[in-house]
Amino acid sequence: MPAENRLPIVRVDNAEGFLSPPHLSAVRARALDALNALTARSCEGSDFLGWLDLPERMLAEELPAIETQAERLRSSSDALVVIGIGGSSLGGRAALSALGHSATETVQPSDTHPVVFAGHHLNSDTLRETLDSLDDHDYAVNVISKSGTTTEPGIAFRFFLDDLKRRHPDGGWKSRLIATTDPRKGALKELANDEGFETLVVPPDVGGRFSVLSAVGLFPLAYAGVDVRAMLDGARDMAAVALREDLETNPSISLSSVRNALFDAGYGVDCLSFTNPRLRHFAGWWQQLFGESEGKDGKGPFPATCEIPADLHSLGQYIQDGRRQLYETFLHAGEGNTSLLVPAGPSRDGLDYLEGRPVSDVLEAALDGTRSAHQSGGVPTLDVRVPVLDAFGIGATFFLFQITVALGGALLGVNPFDQPGVEAYKRNMFKRLGRPGY
Ligand code: PA5
Repeated sequence: MPAENRLPIVRVDNAEGFLSPPHLSAVRARALDALNALTARSCEGSDFLGWLDLPERMLAEELPAIETQAERLRSSSDALVVIGIGGSSLGGRAALSALGHSATETVQPSDTHPVVFAGHHLNSDTLRETLDSLDDHDYAVNVISKSGTTTEPGIAFRFFLDDLKRRHPDGGWKSRLIATTDPRKGALKELANDEGFETLVVPPDVGGRFSVLSAVGLFPLAYAGVDVRAMLDGARDMAAVALREDLETNPSISLSSVRNALFDAGYGVDCLSFTNPRLRHFAGWWQQLFGESEGKDGKGPFPATCEIPADLHSLGQYIQDGRRQLYETFLHAGEGNTSLLVPAGPSRDGLDYLEGRPVSDVLEAALDGTRSAHQSGGVPTLDVRVPVLDAFGIGATFFLFQITVALGGALLGVNPFDQPGVEAYKRNMFKRLGRPGY
C-alpha cells in the first residue's frame, strides 16, 4: 500500500450539520492563521515547538544513538522497567500496546523483551507485584523524567535502583540503567554524571505530552523490537499533510476547526470512541494530550473515552440519551491480516446468520450502527480512520493529534504547551507530607 494511503483519514461532515456554516468558516480561517503562526514559530508557547520537526530530526540525527543503546541493553538484559509518569510514559506505552505488546505493570511471558511500567502510580501492591515479577529476570531500567524530581517516578526509581545495586553490587547496575532526561540539568542528569551511567535526551523544547517521538518513547519501543523508523516515517509523512497550509486538504485544520466550533456551540465533552482494545493506552495518551493542552482558563472540552463495543454496554445509554453535551471522535484502525470467521455454534443464540462472516465485518457494522444511532440521538460525530494499525500508522496518528491540539489550543485562546494546573495537587500533597518549604 503506498505511504499516502496509510495515513489516517479524517472525516468531519457528520458533525457539520450541528454547526452554523458562517461560524465554522470563520473558525476555519482562524485555524489557518493558527497553522501559519505555528509553522512560523510565532505562536504562544513557541519555546516548546521542538516536537514539530522531531520526526526529521530523530531520523537524521539522534535515532542511531537510541538504537545502539537499545541493542546494547537487549543483549544484556531480558526485560526493561520503564519508570515515568504522564508525558514521560504514556506515549511509549500507547504505542507498545497498540502494536500488540503487553505493556503492563508485570512481566508477561509472551513478550521476548518485555517492557513493564512503573512510576505512574503510588500503589504498594502493584509496585511489589512489579518487583516480584522480575525475580527471575536480569532486567534493565529506563528512568524517564525531564525534571528528575517528580514524586511518583522518583519513589519507584529508589526501589529499582536499590534492587539493581543489590543484584549487581560490583557496578553492573550502572550498565543496566539508562536515564532519559534534560541534556544539561536536573537531578537525574547530575546523578548520571556523578555515577557514570548512560543518558538519553528529553529535548528541552519539547513538553512531556509531545515527547513520544523523542528518546522518551523511542527507546522503550526500540528495546521491545518495534520498528521505530517506520513510526517516525509515519509521523514525518503525516507532518507533510497536516502542516500544509491548505484549508481543503489539511486534516488537522478540519478536525481542530470542527472541534472548536462544537465547543463554541456548547458541546463540552469530546468522547474518543475507539474500536480496538489495543488502543486503550492510546486513548490515555490522547486524554493527556487534549486535557492538558486545552483544559485551562475555564475552557476546553473534557476528553472522555469509550471502547467500542465494550462500553456501549455501559456508557452507550448516556451517549445516546443522556445530557446533550458531548460529541464523539471515532478512532477506528484497520486490522492486520487476521481474518477470523464467526464459527458454527449453538443455534439457540440466534447468531447463525453470521456464521462464516469475518468478525471484522461485525465490528464495522457495530461502528456504523453506533455512529448513526448516536448521530440521530443528537451527538455530532467525527471520524479518524487509521488504515493499518502498524508502527507507521501509529506514528502518523500521534502526529495528526499533536498538530490538531496545537491548533485547537490557539483557537481556544490558550497556550497549548503549558500545564500550570498540574501543580495544585502537588502543593497540597507536599504540604500534607511535610516537605520543607510547603
Ligand atoms: O506532559 C507533561 O509535561 C507532564 O505529564 C510530565 O511529562 C509529567 O509530569 C512528568 O514530568 P517529568 O518528566 O519531569 O518527571
